[in-house]
Amino acid sequence: MEQAISYERIPTNIYADSDAASRAIAHEIAGIIRKRASEEKPAVLGLATGSSPKKVYSELIRMHREEGLSFQNVVTYNLDEYYPMEPDAVQSYVRFMREQLFDHVDIPAGNWHLPDGTLPLDKLAEFCKDYETQIERYGGLDFQLLGIGRNGHIGFNEPGSLVNSRTRLMTLDLTTQIDATGDFGGLAKVSKKAITMGVQKIMEAKRVVLCAWGEHKAANVARAVEGSVTSDVPASYLQLHENASFIIDTSAAAQLTRMRTPWMVDAVTWDRPMIKKAVTYLALTVKKPVLKLTSSDYNENGLSDLLALYGQAYDINIEVFNYLQHTITGWPGGKPNADDSNRPERAYPAKKKVVIFSPHPDDDIISMGGTFQRLVDQGHEVHVVYQTSGNIAVADDEALRFAEFVVDFNERFDANNPKANRIYKEAAKFLKAKKDSEIDTDEVRFIKGLIRRGEAKNTCRYVGIKKENMHFLDMPFYETGTIQKNPIGKEDVDVVMAKIEELQPHQIYAAGDLADPHGTHKVCLDAIMEAVQKLRHREYMNNCWVWLYKGAWQEWEIDQIEMAVPMSPDQVLKKRYGIFKHQSQKDGVPFQGTDAREFWQRAEDRNSNTANLYNALGLAEYQAMEAFVRWRF
Ligand code: F6R
Repeated sequence: MEQAISYERIPTNIYADSDAASRAIAHEIAGIIRKRASEEKPAVLGLATGSSPKKVYSELIRMHREEGLSFQNVVTYNLDEYYPMEPDAVQSYVRFMREQLFDHVDIPAGNWHLPDGTLPLDKLAEFCKDYETQIERYGGLDFQLLGIGRNGHIGFNEPGSLVNSRTRLMTLDLTTQIDATGDFGGLAKVSKKAITMGVQKIMEAKRVVLCAWGEHKAANVARAVEGSVTSDVPASYLQLHENASFIIDTSAAAQLTRMRTPWMVDAVTWDRPMIKKAVTYLALTVKKPVLKLTSSDYNENGLSDLLALYGQAYDINIEVFNYLQHTITGWPGGKPNADDSNRPERAYPAKKKVVIFSPHPDDDIISMGGTFQRLVDQGHEVHVVYQTSGNIAVADDEALRFAEFVVDFNERFDANNPKANRIYKEAAKFLKAKKDSEIDTDEVRFIKGLIRRGEAKNTCRYVGIKKENMHFLDMPFYETGTIQKNPIGKEDVDVVMAKIEELQPHQIYAAGDLADPHGTHKVCLDAIMEAVQKLRHREYMNNCWVWLYKGAWQEWEIDQIEMAVPMSPDQVLKKRYGIFKHQSQKDGVPFQGTDAREFWQRAEDRNSNTANLYNALGLAEYQAMEAFVRWRF
């Protein structure tokens, strides 16, 4: 048996999901805390903020509550804090740590430490030196928890940071600033500086664990784990640490060689998905359409096993070509009166009841606008279920404009609805005086939600959907008023379940997007999956197929796609105008994440990219394509 080859230079554990991985990390930390307690010594922990470690902290809290894990002997030093920053501001890491961990466990008040964002500039150097001295007095960090930035940073050691860098004030890289727009409500408001522990102290920790979840981390995880050690990717320094691990989920692992091209690492089982993955990879690598691949192409690119299995390239090529061909359909709801044995969807019932779940009010048109239109045009009964209000992504001045409109309108007509007038007046007053760190009042969120609801209705009318087929769930987990959402709750699943039960669809479309930077799509998907699982024994569910589209951020890998719906140039334009109905999401949305392109541009780039890939593989040349994967529950 041949030995597996590893391209990984840091031990990397891949978990099915971030829940299981976070539990493993929390258990390791708990082990250290208990061991040090039994030695009557402090456990000195280096902690991180951000979205990645949250579930680690909630598991630690659970262990404290349910298993008696005590933090009495725990001393912590956090990696970083924005500068300047008041500790009670919404964006402060002091506040974050208190909310996520310290206030829920028995850690003594003086035992946790974060860099002080309130110090005057001339006191910082001394503070940073003292921060390191304190850690040294404890004998160094027993454990350092890290996340990884989209630019490969650890702490706020941005690209270019040296391996011996000390605790210091850093200017944040543009990528980091963009990633923080969500917390600050706009790029202009993001802190430009932060105090960060240097790489050296991180490297001196006795044990380092870096956690990363989601596809948006995949590229840098692969660079850090498999690339050379470079200051361009500070996380790659961990290759030099003798007790560092990456603990990641499958999405964050996607770009590692063992996931991307597993046949280069070890023997694989050549089932249909693996063959499709290998052949599409080969064709795109050697830049040849599938039907032109030769035996030498297979042999020279690590696929001799597969070739040996089939005997000749032609047989593999034709098989994969057919797989790909059969994913393409202009009939996403099935083609009536046609042989459907090689089509992605069933021909019958010819008229299907279709439910499109849209996490935010614009995901339907952005991610599957062409398919949406075809389903309507081909006579299916299409319902759109908007899962959240999307209110967080409406700019203050947009809300103010609408509030003032109502106030002025009511005053002009001496409106006899003083309550409505008061709500809008109060909202306008709040918005005019709103400070950056303030959370919107209920009234303001209501207005922002209404703005997005109006836009969604506008799109539906444009596509040709009746009013009674538009459904708004306003799922409760979303309504926190901040970018941080609540975890999924029973009520969230219940509203989704009730809607499916009411509509009894033949087809469900849902956003299978795990890389949404706000995590909203993931919660929306989890709610649908849980609801579907609970309803699976209902008779109508036997006839219900679930198709997953990706949200605005990514596309399915070409080999994963099970249904590709082509679009003509005219259909692309029609979709663009449909996206334009979401006016509040144009021109500098507060929380649009890390991609400066507008949503219609992202959608078009992505859809034409899919079409180009199909074409490069030797299939017909279309203007654009929307892609779906079927979830077999
Ligand atoms: C946080 C920190 C950062 C984050 C990183 C990833 O204290 O120092 O390095 O770990 O930016 O952030 P998330 O986890 O939010 O993706």
